[in-house]
Amino acid sequence: MTKAWPPVANRSSLDPEDWTALRAQAHRMLDDMLDYVADIRERPVWTPMPQAVRDHFRADIGDEPTPLEEVHREFMDTVLPYAGGNVHPGFMGWVQGGGTVTGMLAEMLAGGLNANLGGRDHAPIEVERQMVAWVRRLFGFPESASGLFVTGTSMANLLAVLVARTARLGTAARQDGIGPAGQKLRAYASRAAHGCVAQAMDLAGFGSDALHLTPVDASSRMDVAALRGMIARDRAAGLEPFLVVGSAGTVDVGAVDDLRAIAQACRDEGLWFHIDGAYGALGMLSPTVAPRLDGIGEADSIAFDFHKWGQVPYDAGFLLVKDGRQHHESFASPAAYLRRETRGMAAGSPWPCDFGPDLSRGFRALKTWFTLKVHGANAIGAAITHSCELAKYLELRIAAEPALELLAPAQLNIVCFRYRVEDSDRINADIVAALQESGIAAPSMTTLDDKLAIRAALFNHRTEQADVDALVDAVLRLGLRFRRSLD
Ligand SMILES: Cc1ncc(COP(=O)(O)O)c(C=O)c1O
Repeated sequence: MTKAWPPVANRSSLDPEDWTALRAQAHRMLDDMLDYVADIRERPVWTPMPQAVRDHFRADIGDEPTPLEEVHREFMDTVLPYAGGNVHPGFMGWVQGGGTVTGMLAEMLAGGLNANLGGRDHAPIEVERQMVAWVRRLFGFPESASGLFVTGTSMANLLAVLVARTARLGTAARQDGIGPAGQKLRAYASRAAHGCVAQAMDLAGFGSDALHLTPVDASSRMDVAALRGMIARDRAAGLEPFLVVGSAGTVDVGAVDDLRAIAQACRDEGLWFHIDGAYGALGMLSPTVAPRLDGIGEADSIAFDFHKWGQVPYDAGFLLVKDGRQHHESFASPAAYLRRETRGMAAGSPWPCDFGPDLSRGFRALKTWFTLKVHGANAIGAAITHSCELAKYLELRIAAEPALELLAPAQLNIVCFRYRVEDSDRINADIVAALQESGIAAPSMTTLDDKLAIRAALFNHRTEQADVDALVDAVLRLGLRFRRSLD
């Protein structure tokens, strides 16, 4: 007698019932995003979100299904108009790339594949490996160097600190923790280094105070003589220097440390040399910026982002480590359920999950691979060169306006300045907020020598001379208006 198995109904699939209707809707969604980018200049850079829209997001999502076209409409009405604005050529705040349509389309392909790049033997992993090889060549690293896509440079810096820690303390530190030997370890970066370097020390268990900050010169570059002095004093005090983090493009003013001099200091002292090249490292693609990065190939590790000057859509951070073995030893964690084979899907070891903490990893490599293949590295380099030229132009415009004061000249693509006025910090902060709300341009702010600065960081490949003019003209107009309000 054959056993009668109970039937299991097929009702869990989330695929559409009507693929023809879905296809039409998908094309509408694609068209909307192509229009968004194509017509971006017709929009304000940024639009403050009305309270009603904010309240809309505070409501419960609900349990009932909503047709795709309705959710798409909701997105078009409530999300897209109030996005951060970094696609717009007038966006000049913080450090944000503009993305490309190529990258956007590649994101759609990656979403469709739904690839998990933690490991296993499949073509997406080979794409990431091809990108790792490209990065290696860019920085003149050897074949044995390893690399990994991560969210961003904050994460890449953290992983680099962990690799430097394991290189110094040995792999036992992965089980035992940093212990008394680790508590003596000290790292160094300049006062102008990004805050995520101190945070990396905190997260790695050293505490942020274990990062000693060197003074900087007048251009915000690390004072390497002072670095050597600090290392000597720390050694004399019984501490153990182990890591120096150089900056290739500081966040405030775009300073590039003397990487060759730091490399020499690290060699002399036997220290790990890591470079935070969040945006500056890709300056290697620009014939005018690359010479400024002299010595970058001497580093033990480099952290940088493709989503900044590389114009790849968010997020696409990267860590490159010269000694791939040390990188591997810092993260590889054998587990029965991750067993490797020489054939079948479990082949192809080592896997990306052996080089970082993420086991589930998206296909960040694809949008980067598409960007490089479709546009070519030279075009990305040309956009980098152009943004530095625009920064020089902005500097000229500031110099020609008596009402404006240059606070930090363009070293790369960042210019800091302010409107000359009494109560300068308050008025300049008001100018920046009013500018952002006007939708004309969106610079951000920073503080340099206790002075609040308007900070224009030119990263977007769409930004042109006219956008820089619009920024300057609007600052002058707003400055005059606020100055009059003081009278
Ligand atoms: C110099 C520098 N380092 C690190 C970071 C952090 O990078 P991410 O935002 O990709 O984590 C930034 C961000 O702007 C930066 O400018």
